[in-house]
Amino acid sequence: MRTRLATTVLSLLLSLPVNAETGRLTVHVDKPSHAVSPILYGLMTEEINHSYEGGIYAELIQNRSFKDDSNSPAHWSLVGPSTAGSIVLDPQTSLTSAQNVSLKLTATTASTTAPVGVANEGYWGIPVKPNTKYRASFWAKSTSGYSGPLSVRLETADGSTTWAKANVGPVTGVWKQYSVQLRTGKNITPSTANRFTISLSAPGTVNLDLVSLFPPTYHNRPNGNRIDIMEKLAAMHPSFLRLPGGNFVEGYNLETRYDFKHTIGALTDRPGHQGCWGYRSNDGLGFLEYLEWCEDLHMEPVLAVFAGYALSGEHVTGDALKPYVQDALDEIEYVTGESSTTWGARRITDGHAKPFPLTYVEIGNEDGFDKSGSYDERFAAFFDAIKAKYPALKLIATASVKSRKPDVVDDHYYRRSPEMYADVDHYRNRPADSTKVFVGEWATTNIIPWSPEGRKAPPTPELEAALSDAAWMIGMERDSDTVVMECYAPLFVNVNPGARQWAPDLIGYDAINSFGSPPYYAQVMFSGNRGDVVLPVDLDIPAGSDAKPVVFATASRQNASGDVIIKVVNTLATTEPVTIDLDGATDVAKTGTLIQLSGDLDARNSIDEPMKVAPVSLSIPAGSPNFSLTLAPHSVNVVRVKVK
Ligand code: AHR
Repeated sequence: MRTRLATTVLSLLLSLPVNAETGRLTVHVDKPSHAVSPILYGLMTEEINHSYEGGIYAELIQNRSFKDDSNSPAHWSLVGPSTAGSIVLDPQTSLTSAQNVSLKLTATTASTTAPVGVANEGYWGIPVKPNTKYRASFWAKSTSGYSGPLSVRLETADGSTTWAKANVGPVTGVWKQYSVQLRTGKNITPSTANRFTISLSAPGTVNLDLVSLFPPTYHNRPNGNRIDIMEKLAAMHPSFLRLPGGNFVEGYNLETRYDFKHTIGALTDRPGHQGCWGYRSNDGLGFLEYLEWCEDLHMEPVLAVFAGYALSGEHVTGDALKPYVQDALDEIEYVTGESSTTWGARRITDGHAKPFPLTYVEIGNEDGFDKSGSYDERFAAFFDAIKAKYPALKLIATASVKSRKPDVVDDHYYRRSPEMYADVDHYRNRPADSTKVFVGEWATTNIIPWSPEGRKAPPTPELEAALSDAAWMIGMERDSDTVVMECYAPLFVNVNPGARQWAPDLIGYDAINSFGSPPYYAQVMFSGNRGDVVLPVDLDIPAGSDAKPVVFATASRQNASGDVIIKVVNTLATTEPVTIDLDGATDVAKTGTLIQLSGDLDARNSIDEPMKVAPVSLSIPAGSPNFSLTLAPHSVNVVRVKVK
């Protein structure tokens, strides 16, 4: 978060139109209401927009298992003249039953000065940075007597400059994995127009599979995540990860549902599967990697299990549902089980001794789309089996059910800014015994994400969306006696043309850079400044009315710091002077902090301008229960002040 001099911000504010009448924001410090849900702010993840493939999963080789296209080796090309060799898919020479096709590389003429090989273009380029260690690995088998060496290189896309290289070998007639470190020099400029190559220096034929290249990863995890994206998530201080969220858990049909058992263990045993957004998932970021992602960011998993319904409408009921219910029980055991359990033992074999915490399990995703009406029966089957074995788990329904009482229901909202503003009180004053709510997907979408316009629109949202997102979060935080958890969706987008299926998305990236959208910063501001108990607020803003509020606010108190935290959104194009009245407070610190996000309504961030709209933090005078606050036009504001 940037910090600018308070004077700069104040002089900027004074140059904008100011509402002549001062508003009043009263916080009833002495009348604390219910607790703020301690796990309110979290993350939702799914494979969409190249979220994992070419996203957070740090693998740099696209189509490393040669399964993306059954007709040709997509994203691979021959290095050398076409008369000097060939590359073809070879389903006859397979590494394992899961890796059931390999790449046959034949060099008919090759020498050390004119090697012939194969090149991968990466996910819209391969990022090369100075002084960086890359770990290349692949399986190889010679089918011609060629014994090596194999030359491994990181080089520019046209092959004119080599950034790093190494030789491996000997290659034999038996599949073997080769690993080598490629280290770049210090005097190079970061770039993405690069390729990864493996070449032969003499005529021969070699089969390759599971060709992989990793840059340094977050917490140095092998097979891990991209550092810059993980750091952006860490800055959000998320409490949970809904995994795997959205349509990814359902699959297009039963065959392509999310099946955790196919995503664990050695990469050689993971077949990968067709995702529901037009591309395959290699499942390198598999089920255990999801859980380790949670561990790295101190989040609890919110486990979504496949519930017998796929996007095509295919669904399962009666006895046919039993294997899927058993899969869900096994999945829960994999997360939480001790070594004495089958799937707990399997998790330990896979490399994670300690069970993970688990409180919430979600049964399906958006089952309201199941027009057969089977969800009630399906939910009941999962509910009964899970509650019988794990009575402490809280179960989330994704649509209305009558035969059982879910602990929580998952509501989704994708709406324009005015609709968000109009519905901020959606969960207000619900009876204490009403079913708790998980707002498991939501976003201000000022364009319909799945429409043709949505596909052409900028990949990440603008400031206007951040304002209405923040107003909506104000409602959820204030009403978090009902709303126990919330997470924005979708979380990620690879901004390259052709990489995305949905906009807007919270965090954008290409092969080398990433950026947060204005709504991302609203999330950072809200989640990073959490109170423990809600303090009631009264707002008197001259320009607004009860029917059309123009300023939204909520407040809370944080026990450990003694801070009163006030979150305010000004939707007006005018600067709004406001008197803060901390009703019931006697001893107020001399200064407080204001974190503010503001700008033009249509301003957005991008790879080229990653911080065009970003929060500023400044000190504000307080010192008494009544102090002045200046709300910038179109702004999201978080005020912190210590109150005894
Ligand atoms: O987040 C994008 C999609 O929106 C999710 O996959 C689905 O659950 C919802 O319809």
